[in-house]
Amino acid sequence: MSRILNIISSPRGAASNSIKLADAIIDRLKEQDPAAFVQVHDLTNKPFPHLEEAHLNAFFTPVENHTDSDKEAIKHSNDAIKEIMDADVLVIGAPMYNFGISSVLKSWFDHIARAGITFKYTAEGPVGLLTGKKAYVAVTTGGVYSSGPATGFDFVTPYIKTMLGFIGITDVTIVRAEGFAVAELQQTALDKGIDSIQL
Ligand SMILES: Cc1cc2nc3c(=O)[nH]c(=O)nc-3n(C[C@H](O)[C@H](O)[C@H](O)COP(=O)(O)O)c2cc1C
Repeated sequence: MSRILNIISSPRGAASNSIKLADAIIDRLKEQDPAAFVQVHDLTNKPFPHLEEAHLNAFFTPVENHTDSDKEAIKHSNDAIKEIMDADVLVIGAPMYNFGISSVLKSWFDHIARAGITFKYTAEGPVGLLTGKKAYVAVTTGGVYSSGPATGFDFVTPYIKTMLGFIGITDVTIVRAEGFAVAELQQTALDKGIDSIQL
């Protein structure tokens, strides 16, 4: 039985296209493995905070020297990393906000990128430590970025691929549903995105 971690980063609940697209990916994964366990983590319910001094102190203090306040500051980071470690597959919903990812997703990345835990520095450069996993990213956008004049303005997919690769998750499939703000495309955008899913 595989474990799927579904990361939600849209606050729009049942109206969210990235949630619907991610759910369609999960449905397809469950066709392959009906017993798959799905852990849902909705980042919009209790967003990770911006990194504060207390978080950074805890990140860069050896575990054996952690004070009670370090332990408290690092708890949610540890929990989020454990969720990823426990998962075989990540399905991340990523709406585009102002050409990038939503701030709740950025904060999640800020709390899971930990030297010595999810990546390490070597003489050859950083090496990701969360290897052997697969990720699908459901990217939804108002405009069109897969082709045409706005291609260079998509900072969602390169950023997510870079961050996942940085922590060792290099097998990443991007699934797009795009054009929700384009009159001629918005009715079919989600179905086209769902139809494009390839596991
Ligand atoms: C605050 C905000 C900023 C947005 N910025 C962009 C943008 O820069 N480019 C774009 O193509 N669409 C943008 N959109 C449109 C969303 O990416 C699109 O509606 C997407 O489907 C939202 O995903 P969701 O339905 O899962 O919330 C923005 C939407 C919101 C609410």
